[in-house]
Amino acid sequence: MLLFYILLLLIGFSESREHEISINEETPINTIIFDLNSLSSSLITYQLLESSSLLYFNSTTNLISISKRIDRDTLCPNDDLCSKCYLTIKLYDMFYYDILLLKFQINDINDNQPIFSSNTYSISLTENNMPGMKIRLSKAEDIDCLINGVQLYELTYVYNNRVIISSINLFHPQKQNQTNQPFYLMYDINSDLYLIINMSLDRELQSEYIFTITANDYKYTTSTKLTLTVLDVNDHNPKFSQTIYTVNISYSTPIGTILTKLTAYDADSEENAHIYYSLLSIDGYKLETNEKNELFQLNSYTGELSIISKLNHLDTKNIFKLVIGASDGTHNAIPALTTVYINIQNDLLNDNQSLIQLTFGSNNVSKNFSEVYISENLPNATFIAYIKSNSNLQLITHEGFFLQKLTENSFTLLTDRIYDREKCSSYNVHLRNENIERKFQIIVTDINDCKPIWNSSILNIDLDLYIQLNEPIVLTLNATDYDENSHVGYRKKKYIMATMDNINIKSINIKLYIRI
Ligand SMILES: *[C@@H]1O[C@H](CO)[C@@H](O)[C@H](O)[C@H]1NC(C)=O
Ligand SMILES: *[C@@H]1O[C@H](CO)[C@@H](O)[C@H](O)[C@H]1NC(C)=O
Ligand SMILES: *[C@@H]1O[C@H](CO)[C@@H](O)[C@H](O)[C@H]1NC(C)=O
Ligand SMILES: *[C@@H]1O[C@H](CO)[C@@H](O)[C@H](O)[C@H]1NC(C)=O
Ligand SMILES: *[C@@H]1O[C@H](CO)[C@@H](O)[C@H](O)[C@H]1NC(C)=O
Ligand SMILES: *[C@@H]1O[C@H](CO)[C@@H](O)[C@H](O)[C@H]1NC(C)=O
Ligand SMILES: *[C@@H]1O[C@H](CO)[C@@H](O)[C@H](O)[C@H]1NC(C)=O
Ligand SMILES: *[C@@H]1O[C@H](CO)[C@@H](O)[C@H](O)[C@H]1NC(C)=O
Ligand SMILES: *[C@@H]1O[C@H](CO)[C@@H](O)[C@H](O)[C@H]1NC(C)=O
Ligand SMILES: *[C@@H]1O[C@H](CO)[C@@H](O)[C@H](O)[C@H]1NC(C)=O
Repeated sequence: MLLFYILLLLIGFSESREHEISINEETPINTIIFDLNSLSSSLITYQLLESSSLLYFNSTTNLISISKRIDRDTLCPNDDLCSKCYLTIKLYDMFYYDILLLKFQINDINDNQPIFSSNTYSISLTENNMPGMKIRLSKAEDIDCLINGVQLYELTYVYNNRVIISSINLFHPQKQNQTNQPFYLMYDINSDLYLIINMSLDRELQSEYIFTITANDYKYTTSTKLTLTVLDVNDHNPKFSQTIYTVNISYSTPIGTILTKLTAYDADSEENAHIYYSLLSIDGYKLETNEKNELFQLNSYTGELSIISKLNHLDTKNIFKLVIGASDGTHNAIPALTTVYINIQNDLLNDNQSLIQLTFGSNNVSKNFSEVYISENLPNATFIAYIKSNSNLQLITHEGFFLQKLTENSFTLLTDRIYDREKCSSYNVHLRNENIERKFQIIVTDINDCKPIWNSSILNIDLDLYIQLNEPIVLTLNATDYDENSHVGYRKKKYIMATMDNINIKSINIKLYIRI
């Protein structure tokens, strides 16, 4: 049990060592990803302070392994460059008395294919347009990092009985070297994909064009169909008022809260009445038309996005990326798209529930966290708990322990003496941070540290009263021990002139014979 306690020295707290380890997403469960023994030649015991639930630290072996599926693409959906997707483990090094931070960088693998928000799109344009007209297209979304995302788009169509393919490589968008193409793709510096209509459309010659657009990530390809109808009246697609919306929420945001209200307007008319909003994807996973999801709800008519589930169980999740479309609902036009980032903030100040977060050093804590068992006789300044809280944290009771500040938002609670169960068997801890309180009791558990004590001293026997040759002097004695549940046994020591009988737990009879 002793191994589960930490003796903290008062120096060296600011020291915090960091190691960065790179692992691939989708590494199989139970794979060992780090061996803490590799950091030192001596056997060091570590106390787990904070961890991701996707990782498992075995304190017996000092090995860190994967405990749940790691999918980078849902863990860090907005990290397109794959530069900041980390899982961390914070440990206390009981040999060097400092904090060890292990950062596991999650590398992307190309495990997702690009997805278009729809299998078919249609646009309508008026004839007699100016050649060179740009139509923004919906790009395929690939939730992998950019490097494993869409690399190439191809536009395939038939024109004058000829199959024409226009392709564009997003990473090398060199000048088109094909010429005389009536339609081709263009990719601009804002990362938007356009269809260029390099001709003046004439409804009398051809009233409809059908294009296949293919997105290729060099492992998977996906295609969609685009129908261009040539009209003689004007018809515009709607536009969102913002291309990106950001919302901050916390794990305790109540169900039903409206997170944001999206607005799109239609260039054709002043009124927004017939704009129809739809949630197209969450973290890149496409939702089918009218498919319900358990977390968010979008009102198709008002554009209000609300939360419909508790997020408490998503302890490793800190961001959602939602793609929302707006269309005028009359036909399957290219919807205007916007992205909503929902940040889940674990801000201590925003979340009263976690204002005082405790991690106990003892491995023996009652289920309701009201009792923490700590063995007596551990050294002074033994680690009781690691506390995440801000600087308003106050210790209301002081007997037996003290608070040590580690960082701006973390503390340790340490013993201020060597506990002796026989003197004091429990201490009440009462912490407060503004209106939040945490109380628990430290119960000092027993170790066999007391010597048995005789109920009387043999040396005080007045020999004159007893002395009679060859007659034994019978003394009845017992011994007690202040340890809990202690059983005192009696045993004859060498060279003591006594024999024993009636050995039992309660008392002992000793016969003394005087030899002259
Ligand atoms: C931790 O490692 C020990 C030694 O290999 C093993 O017996 C134990 O089952 C492991 N614990 C868990 C929870 O896997
Ligand atoms: C450019 O033209 C040459 C010759 O016609 C052709 O081989 C090459 O594939 C073209 N490049 C692109 C990017 O289309
Ligand atoms: C656009 O059309 C003009 C006139 O037909 C043609 O000369 C030019 O090559 C076309 N551009 C492309 C990129 O095909
Ligand atoms: C969300 O929080 C970040 C800091 O965590 C802040 O910079 C940003 O302004 C906040 N956004 C909104 C919409 O409150
Ligand atoms: C959180 O604390 C603030 C002030 O500290 C208080 O106004 C608010 O009601 C608390 N919220 C909850 C959910 O307890
Ligand atoms: C925790 O400590 C109490 C009191 O010493 C003891 O009864 C109990 O068995 C201990 N539990 C564990 C899991 O060690
Ligand atoms: C917590 O559990 C212990 C037993 O494990 C019990 O004695 C105590 O009354 C409980 N405290 C509360 C606040 O429920
Ligand atoms: C225990 O350590 C604390 C902090 O160093 C010190 O203030 C206190 O006097 C020590 N207590 C004993 C009994 O040594
Ligand atoms: C010591 O304990 C024994 C057994 O309980 C008892 O007979 C005896 O009188 C006690 N002696 C003293 C001095 O209390
Ligand atoms: C042992 O002696 C003490 C002191 O006389 C007495 O209080 C106690 O009950 C005795 N214990 C037993 C087991 O006889």
